[in-house]
Amino acid sequence: MSRIVGIDLGTSTSEIACIVDGAPRLIPNTLGKLITPSVVHISDNGDILVGENAAEYLFTRPDCTFMEVKRLTGSGEVLRAHGKEYSPEEVQSMLLKYLVGCAETRLGEKIDRAVITVPAYFTDIQRRATAKAGELAGLHVERILNEPTAAALDYGMANLKECKNVLVYDLGGGTLDVTVLELFEGVIDVKASRGNNHLGGKDFDEIIMARLADTTGDERALMRLKKAAEDCKIALSSREEYGISLPFLLTAKDGKPVSVERTVTRAEFEEWVREKVESTREPMMTALSDSGLSPGDLNVILLVGGSTRIPCVQKVVQESLSAFPKSPVDPDLTVARGAAIQAGLLEGSIASAELVLTDVCPYTLGTSVVHEGLYDDRLVFDAIIPRNTTIPTEKSKIYHPHTDYQTQARIEVYQGDSADPQNNERLGDVMLTGIPPAKRGREPIEVVFAYDINGILQVKASVVSTGKQVSAEINTTGVKPKPVLDLSKWEKANGARRYRPAIRKAEKRIAGGADETGELDILVKQIKEALLLEKEEQAGGLRDQLLELLEAMP
Ligand SMILES: Nc1ncnc2c1ncn2[C@@H]1O[C@H](COP(=O)(O)OP(=O)(O)OP(=O)(O)O)[C@@H](O)[C@H]1O
Ligand SMILES: [Mg+2]
Repeated sequence: MSRIVGIDLGTSTSEIACIVDGAPRLIPNTLGKLITPSVVHISDNGDILVGENAAEYLFTRPDCTFMEVKRLTGSGEVLRAHGKEYSPEEVQSMLLKYLVGCAETRLGEKIDRAVITVPAYFTDIQRRATAKAGELAGLHVERILNEPTAAALDYGMANLKECKNVLVYDLGGGTLDVTVLELFEGVIDVKASRGNNHLGGKDFDEIIMARLADTTGDERALMRLKKAAEDCKIALSSREEYGISLPFLLTAKDGKPVSVERTVTRAEFEEWVREKVESTREPMMTALSDSGLSPGDLNVILLVGGSTRIPCVQKVVQESLSAFPKSPVDPDLTVARGAAIQAGLLEGSIASAELVLTDVCPYTLGTSVVHEGLYDDRLVFDAIIPRNTTIPTEKSKIYHPHTDYQTQARIEVYQGDSADPQNNERLGDVMLTGIPPAKRGREPIEVVFAYDINGILQVKASVVSTGKQVSAEINTTGVKPKPVLDLSKWEKANGARRYRPAIRKAEKRIAGGADETGELDILVKQIKEALLLEKEEQAGGLRDQLLELLEAMP
C-alpha cells in the first residue's frame, strides 16, 4: 500500500506532512517553506499558481486570484475567473494538488491517499465538500480529521505516558474550535467540541479595514487595505502601536485621491475586536460543561492557530479558564503533524496500540415531529443523536404517522439544539413511502441516524411492519450556519422586557408541575429564541398563544 499524507487545509495557510522514521515531518513546498498561503491564481492562459506565487497577484489581478476559499466550503457559491465558473471545492482541489505535488517531488513517489483536516465544528455538508475537493485532486480521502483532535494527537504522541485533561483552543484565519479531551497514556478521548465556523483572524482584518477606508467596488484597493490591516494586526501582537501608510489608495467619487495615514495602538485594536474575542468564552465554557469538567480540572491548554498569538485572545482564554495557556505545540504546524500521525496509524507506520483516538459529533442531530398540545399542534425538533456523542454512532427512534391513513412520511433532518426546527440548520430530508394505510399512531416507523468516523451522516427510515426501507446520505448545499443561541441571555434581547411577565408566569406554572404536555416549555423556549434572533413578529404571535394557553389552563 502506498503512503498516506496528512494535510491541514486552512483558511489562510495550508501544510502537508507525513511520517518519516516513525515521527511526523512537515514537507516543504516548492519554495522550500513549510507554510503555504491558501491562495490560488488562475492566469490568463489557464495556468494555476498556488501559495506565495499566487499571493503576489492578489494586488494586481484580484479578479482571478482566490483567497480564504475555505469559508465558502459547501456553500454552493460560485467563484469566477476569466468568465469561467469554479466551485469552492474546485479551487480547494487546486491547493491540494499543489501540496501533494510538492510532497511527490520531495519523497520521489506517487501520492494518492490523504488525511485532510477540517474544523471540528464543520457541518456534515462542509465535510462532504472537503472530501469532494480531495477527490477532485485525485486523492482517496482516507479520513476527515477534526483539527483540534489532530493537535491532540500531536501532543499525545509526544506525551505518551501522561494522564491529563486537555483543552484545545484553535483560532485560525477563519474558524474557531474548542475541544476538551482526556489523555490517558496514549488514549485520546475527546469529550466535547464547540466552535464557530465564521470567526477568525480574517474578521479582525475586516474590522481594522472598516475603520480605515471604504473601498467598495475597488478590488485592488481592497486587497492593499487587507494586507495593511493584517500587517497591522500581526505587528500589534508584539508592539504597542503600528503606523499604516497607504498613499493614493483609491480615487473618491469626486475624483480626488484618497490616502490612509494613521497610527493604530494596541489598545485601540483591542477595543475594536473586543466583542468578537469575548464571544469565544461561550464555546470554551460550553465545551467544558458538556464534558463535565470545570476550569480547575484542566491540566493543559493547547493554543493552536495563528490568531492565538494575539495578546487579548490569550487573555480571554486565561481569564475564562483561570489558567495560563502554554503552547507546548507549534501553533502553525501541529494540526498537519497530527494529520500525519493519523495517516501513520492508518498506513501502519505508527503502532495503533500506542495511540488510540475517540472523537465526538459536536452537533445535536435530529428530526422534526408534531407535538400535540392542549391548545394546538406544533412542529418541534426531536433529538436523535445528542451533541458530543462518541463516534461512530448509530441511534434509532420509533415514530408514528400523524394523520389517519397516511401512506408516506417525510423525515426532515436537522442539526442544532433549538426546540423550533426552523431555528436549526436543515440538512435535508428522506421520503418514506408505502406505509400501509392505518389509523394514526398505529403504524410504527423506525428512523436511524448513523454518524461515521469522518463526521458524515446517513439517515435510514423503515416501516416496521413491512420492513420497507429508504436511506439517504444527506446531501444539500447552500446551507448557511445558524448562530449559536444561548437561551439564558434572552433578557438582553431587544424588546425582551415586554415578554418578561408572560414568560415568568409560564415558568412558574412549569416549575409547579402544571405543564404535563410540555407545551408551555416549548412555547417559552421558542419565544426566547425568536427574541434572540430579533424575530419580533414571531415572538409576538407566540406570546399570544402562550397567554391564551395560560388562560385556558385550570
Ligand atoms: N503574530 C500574529 N498575531 C496576530 N495574528 C496572527 C499572527 N500570526 C498569524 N496571525 C493570523 O493567523 C491567521 C492564520 O492562522 P492559521 O494559519 O493558523 O489559520 P488557518 O489554519 O489557515 O485557518 P483555519 O484553521 O481557521 O482554517 C491569519 O488571520 C493571520 O493573520
Ligand atoms: Mg487552522
